[in-house]
Amino acid sequence: MSLLHHLAPDSPDRPPVPPHPIVVEGLRNAFGGHVVHNDLSLTVNRGEILGVVGGSGTGKSVLMRSIIGLQIPDAGSISVLGRSITDAHDDDDIDIRSRWGVLFQGGALFSTLTVAENVEVPLKEFYPEITDQLRHEIARYKVMLSGLPEEAAAKFPAELSGGMRKRAGLARALSLDPELLFLDEPTAGLDPIGAAAFDRLTRALQETLGLTVFLITHDLDTLYEICDRVAVLAEGRVIAVGTIPELLATDHPWIQEYFNGPRGRAAHASKARAALGSPAVDSRASGGA
Ligand SMILES: Nc1ncnc2c1ncn2[C@@H]1O[C@H](COP(=O)(O)OP(=O)(O)OP(=O)(O)O)[C@@H](O)[C@H]1O
Ligand SMILES: [Mg+2]
Repeated sequence: MSLLHHLAPDSPDRPPVPPHPIVVEGLRNAFGGHVVHNDLSLTVNRGEILGVVGGSGTGKSVLMRSIIGLQIPDAGSISVLGRSITDAHDDDDIDIRSRWGVLFQGGALFSTLTVAENVEVPLKEFYPEITDQLRHEIARYKVMLSGLPEEAAAKFPAELSGGMRKRAGLARALSLDPELLFLDEPTAGLDPIGAAAFDRLTRALQETLGLTVFLITHDLDTLYEICDRVAVLAEGRVIAVGTIPELLATDHPWIQEYFNGPRGRAAHASKARAALGSPAVDSRASGGA
């Protein structure tokens, strides 16, 4: 039972997370004549960090938006936590949106609200019965859980660095004790040390909170450091999904170029050094990626 369910005991219990919390089958998305996804299928396993990669414009963000119901697909079926997203039922006892958290590409914080107020927005929507004081307490806790100093809670997004804004977005994504976490390019624009710290935070949160994480990234170090499996988007579909060694065993040119190009090799060498016990030098810090 989540903290929030404990605090708001009238809320219906959440059913258990199924072994495959996200299942996408035969997805098609087109904008006018531009086909972005065609017969795309993907299954996410419970408790994993799944990295999602693909060239810019291959439809990673549109895939995430489809999974969370913000983009109505032209065809295909999507189920999340055992519920159909494509045939949404109004009579669901628990709003499925309260069971996931999302960090959008670019952050998408409300600029006129403080960090704490941003974190409180979903709490107000889904748990209106919680007292103001308790809501403030929960928001403060989530801000700290995301690695921000306590004083950041009272600041506006414009007063924060890019890395702090990402953490504020993460705090908001965690506000409802989600079981699924969607992260769209969480380390883009961060310096190498900040990016590595964000990766560690993601892994630590996934382990301690038992999350399943859908993580879109271009960051090879993130893929090597924290992803259990990686799904590759190309040609409108998921062309391969597996561990990095499994992907390297395929002969698809894009996959070979991506993981075996200079940046891929630098990220791989960094991971190998860390495994041998040498000082972990994130390849982002040596300009590798
Ligand atoms: N609402 C929309 N209307 C029209 N076209 C759209 C819309 N949303 C996305 N697209 C198009 O769909 C394609 C995929 O977009 P998407 O944002 O998913 O790419 P991406 O893989 O996330 O790229 P990046 O790595 O640059 O973030 C792009 O060509 C984009 O222009
Ligand atoms: Mg995108």
